Amino acid sequence: MSRTPYIAANWKMNKTVAEAEEYIQALLPKVGAIDDVEIVVCPPFLALQAMVDSARGSSVQIYAQNMHEGDEGAFTGEVTAGMLTEIDVQGVILGHSERRQYFNETDEALARKVPAALGAGLEPILCVGENESQRDADETEAVLTRQIQADLAEVPDARLSEVVIAYEPIWAIGTGRTATPDQAQEAIALIRGLIEGRSAEAGAAIRILYGGSVKPDNAAELISQPDVDGALVGGASLDPGDFAAIVRAAA
Ligand code: PGA
Repeated sequence: MSRTPYIAANWKMNKTVAEAEEYIQALLPKVGAIDDVEIVVCPPFLALQAMVDSARGSSVQIYAQNMHEGDEGAFTGEVTAGMLTEIDVQGVILGHSERRQYFNETDEALARKVPAALGAGLEPILCVGENESQRDADETEAVLTRQIQADLAEVPDARLSEVVIAYEPIWAIGTGRTATPDQAQEAIALIRGLIEGRSAEAGAAIRILYGGSVKPDNAAELISQPDVDGALVGGASLDPGDFAAIVRAAA
């Protein structure tokens, strides 16, 4: 089965609304002619509305970087799926390792967040990945298996292919130390196998991205691996020229 390549920009805590506007105006003409790649940009919450308005009618989709699993309530600082869909946000990153590490995001919370996103009509990009000591201890397979099983436990098999998964080895995030194409392929094939174990159809259809120090000069080789369907890009996505180059590498 052929899966449409998928490139997402994770800006993390970067760019004001004015900077976001400037970026999207610079990006759109660079990617306007590319119609065979799904292109996603994930700005901070405050820039979402402006980005959605500016990207409307283009091939660029705007996603959030996090959400709460509940519908409403006393959760200071949090945002619901419904608040995102109200302003036409189309998806959300869930379980990024920085949220797991610094904000205590747990697999239990993710088991609720992923179905909450799907239920609201948001496409979740679920992030999983091992840290350096887990890789050194040969625990990569166990960590990925545990995260995938737990985080997708409440998603029915028939909806699994609506989730996008990002394999992001923590040791490769923001370090300049990219996984080798073989390491990315191996881990992503493992994840695809886990999904296939639940539904052969979903395993063939689900998009699985690599993330961790993806740059214009290494993107093509990573994405050309048979199971690697695209990239979740942090640092290099902050420059519209570099991000467009990565999108072109996937086209
Ligand atoms: P990086 O971040 O590209 O800066 O390594 C990737 C991510 O955290 O999604």
